[in-house]
Amino acid sequence: MSNLRFPENFLWGAATAAYQIEGAARDDGRGPSIWDTFSRTPGKVHQGHTGDVACDHYHRYADDVALMAELGLRAYRFSVAWPRIQPDGTGAVNPRGLDFYDRLVDALLDRGIDPIVTLYHWDLPQALGDRGGWTNRETAEHFATYATAVHARLGDRVGTWTTLNEPWCSAYLGYGNGVHAPGEQDPAAAFTAVHHLLLGHGLAARALRAAGAETIGITLNPADVRPADPASAADAAAVRLVDGLHNRIFLDPLLAGGYPEDVLEHVGGFVEPAFVRDGDEKLIAAPIDLLGINYYQPTYVAGRPGGAGGGGAYPGTEGAVEFLPPVGPLTDMGWMIEPAGLTRLLERIATDYPGVPLLITENGAAFPDKPGVDGPGGAGGVMDTDRIAYLDGHLRAAHEAIARGVDLRGYLVWSLLDNFEWAEGYRKRFGIVHVDYLTQRRTPKASARWYQEVISRNGL
Ligand code: FCB
Repeated sequence: MSNLRFPENFLWGAATAAYQIEGAARDDGRGPSIWDTFSRTPGKVHQGHTGDVACDHYHRYADDVALMAELGLRAYRFSVAWPRIQPDGTGAVNPRGLDFYDRLVDALLDRGIDPIVTLYHWDLPQALGDRGGWTNRETAEHFATYATAVHARLGDRVGTWTTLNEPWCSAYLGYGNGVHAPGEQDPAAAFTAVHHLLLGHGLAARALRAAGAETIGITLNPADVRPADPASAADAAAVRLVDGLHNRIFLDPLLAGGYPEDVLEHVGGFVEPAFVRDGDEKLIAAPIDLLGINYYQPTYVAGRPGGAGGGGAYPGTEGAVEFLPPVGPLTDMGWMIEPAGLTRLLERIATDYPGVPLLITENGAAFPDKPGVDGPGGAGGVMDTDRIAYLDGHLRAAHEAIARGVDLRGYLVWSLLDNFEWAEGYRKRFGIVHVDYLTQRRTPKASARWYQEVISRNGL
């Protein structure tokens, strides 16, 4: 095994999200979110699974933090559930909701673990969903108010704040192809949501800045878009289109001053982008201190007349683009395993959008773990060599990006715990720690012990 060392102070950690792990869906005044509604809508989530109980982290956070400390994590990225803080999305703040995150932050700091807060990981208060969700400009304004309330309580102890997690998913999966809450299928709504999410980021970032937050950022899931045939001009055009819809529509307004012309023109085929008002782009482009990158797999496309396109997730690609089926080896999500895509993606962002430090805020893999069957450590043990290989490959890819000059500050594995994987429910396991949902017993998988070792050596 080679001897790869990461830079000093490289931040090693793990990530989770509120709805995926907390459970306690009705505790202490929490209001309903669009995911409570969606998961109760027949046919939307595998076997009707919901986040009602999830990993019961709301009640077990102290043990979970102890486990993080045992594994040597230096950072923990979690999200705050807006419906715990403002049960109907606006108005009075619910102090009991804030109390939970207050306790969590203290527990982390007691163990020397750096809290990284995500303010929005998809659980929009249902009351705002009822008023159009992210298609309504007012949601962006309410988001900034909510962000201010969370910062007022936690800002004395939390240094790193990210506004949104993967607005691509919120907009295109939520309003485009309907695979995520609120389950709409309307390209005009998806594009409108893109802008209001970015506006929400801009307004919240400005409010956090004014309140004195140290490090402010956003997490995207930019795609490493590749041509089926590198020599084909048609494939290059397909890459350009998909890159515009997935990447530049977020990266350009955030980091290059405004929306790209070609993308605005494409959007104009579905909806008049009058929702972009004077001053919006300037606000969205205010400097950030950190860009979070979530990476799982690359995207291969070909330019083909009559191509099936990417459905509601890529409006306007039908008839022009073919998304190639993934080529094995695949994870349990059916996702390709291609670590080189991470190097390419990091390098591309560092080149095209220089000057902003990057943090891998998610990377990991689901595999059909078999506890206790072939695992070490007795009952419940999981020998997840496939996950270790995935993580090892991607850490090497991240290291390669650093070697090529990318300012990469850290790596957060998705995920600490097996959890509610959105439309897939509990059947997909991403954790480095196994969760037995009947007993809520946590068992570190072999990958957790491997990761512990990586952290302690600061390398591979
Ligand atoms: C990302 C999400 C995260 C998790 C992983 C597998 O898109 O941010 O919540 O579902 O995928």
